[in-house]
Amino acid sequence: MKIKKICCIGAGYVGGPTMAVIAKKCPEIQVTVVDLNKERIAAWNDTDVNNIPVYEPGLGDIVAEARGRNLFFSTQVDEAIQEADMVFISVNTPTKTYGEGKGQAADLKWIELCARQIARVSTTDKIIVEKSTLPVRTASTLKDILSHTGNNINFQILSNPEFLAEGTAVEDLLSPDRVLIGGDPSPKGQAAVEALVEIYSTWVPTERILTTNLWSSELSKLTANAFLAQRVSSINAISEICEVTEADVNEVSRAIGSDSRVGPKFLKASVGFGGSCFQKDILNLVYIARTYGLNEVANYWEQVIIMNDHQKRRFAKKVISSLYNTVSGKKIAFLGWAFKKDTNDTRESAAIYVADHLLNENAELSVFDPKVTAQQVYTDLDYLGTRESTKNASLVTVTKDPYETCKGSHAVAVLTEWDEFNSYDWQKIYDNMLKPAYVFDGRDILETEKLKAIGFRVYTIGKTQTQ
Ligand code: UDX
Ligand code: UDX
Ligand code: ADP
Repeated sequence: MKIKKICCIGAGYVGGPTMAVIAKKCPEIQVTVVDLNKERIAAWNDTDVNNIPVYEPGLGDIVAEARGRNLFFSTQVDEAIQEADMVFISVNTPTKTYGEGKGQAADLKWIELCARQIARVSTTDKIIVEKSTLPVRTASTLKDILSHTGNNINFQILSNPEFLAEGTAVEDLLSPDRVLIGGDPSPKGQAAVEALVEIYSTWVPTERILTTNLWSSELSKLTANAFLAQRVSSINAISEICEVTEADVNEVSRAIGSDSRVGPKFLKASVGFGGSCFQKDILNLVYIARTYGLNEVANYWEQVIIMNDHQKRRFAKKVISSLYNTVSGKKIAFLGWAFKKDTNDTRESAAIYVADHLLNENAELSVFDPKVTAQQVYTDLDYLGTRESTKNASLVTVTKDPYETCKGSHAVAVLTEWDEFNSYDWQKIYDNMLKPAYVFDGRDILETEKLKAIGFRVYTIGKTQTQ
């Protein structure tokens, strides 16, 4: 079966970039990305590609090339579904904030709504592709809903989890380590798998396209993220040992990463992992394990989250203890708010939790991030519900200038590893700060010796403080 029209429901961090790359690589396929959010669609259609809602290096060029040719962004959800022979579901699946499984299970409300909408408007056979990360066995829910349309339409469900990392989305989409496609073993299911394989094989070598059953594909996505997060929590646990033993976490990372069985990637100690996937997916895995009565398995994976929460909290505590056990009324400058560099995404960013902890101690925060808006910073803090939003507004300022952010502060904390932070005039920053001036480098990106020579007291994750 040759696919001519694709519809993608959800124009977010996954749907937008993924569809832009498919459209670029397959000019003969018409790709329509739909979303209920009118502002988001308007931003994707902005004539200036610098204003598209997702910041990803290289994405603007791809959108500029394909948009209007075979890539379209629209709010006409029903029409786009109706026309398409393949529908990707790429909507948000956040952790439930209410009811059974609150705080752990994935909220599948939006997925179910999509399925019902597809069932309602479809008049021709379609392949439905799960792109969002979903708990294992979600496909059976989708199947169930779609098979009860009563109009004899054949829906095939595929699982095609996305492994792109934010900040490198375009690179990851153009040359993925692998593409994973799970489908039903029946002949119709396999024909659907083949149709999707054909799309990807336009630019991905076929040996990198893995096909499995639906459940392996769904579970592999959760497992991949759990393993990656586990590595970060593991090295972060070691970073705390380093700080008290004069071992250097970077040296330890290099030493263990040189073992090909361990491998060098994802061993960078940090103030804690963030992002929309790691925590959510592990919580999902924990919830699934508990549902099946696998308590030891659940406890094992939960520890990865517990370690991550500890890492964020202990960074905040380090700031407080260094500043003579009180930060009340003291200005602390945050460099970075995004959960990693090269993205404007702040979901689950460590910065939010470190800030929350310091605000509980009545600190005054001043935030600078090259890509995050002031509105987003306040939204993130308000979302926690720890204090009145008027309090957040009065304690936190967000500036567009890093020097302004640091001016008059007692301490500068680096929360995101943006490259530009290292190139700042640190002498100028020092001159405008209160003394003693502290730097807390939660990402180990600054030149510690240079800062110390200027006069800063420097704390770096995973290194024993000598000053
Ligand atoms: C280990 C380390 O590999 C080695 O670097 C160190 O110097 C000594 O300890 P060893 O215990 O000899 O070496 O064997 P190893 O191959 O690491 O296996 C250890 C155990 O893990 C074995 O029981 C093995 O069966 C098991 N294992 C290993 C698995 O169950 N699955 C795997 O994927 C790998
Ligand atoms: C992750 C997976 O990498 C990706 O395959 C999946 O599709 C979605 O989830 P993402 O969350 O975009 O991608 O970013 P990632 O690069 O994995 O970083 C996640 C968090 O871990 C960030 O906060 C990052 O700063 C942190 N991290 C990562 C570390 O602290 N140390 C590391 O060595 C690597
Ligand atoms: P991700 O990081 O997984 O891409 P996002 O939250 O960035 O997640 O994007 C998901 C998008 O899906 C949002 O823009 C949201 O408005 C959209 N969405 C959710 N449910 C529906 C729906 N039923 N129809 C259309 N769009 C939807």
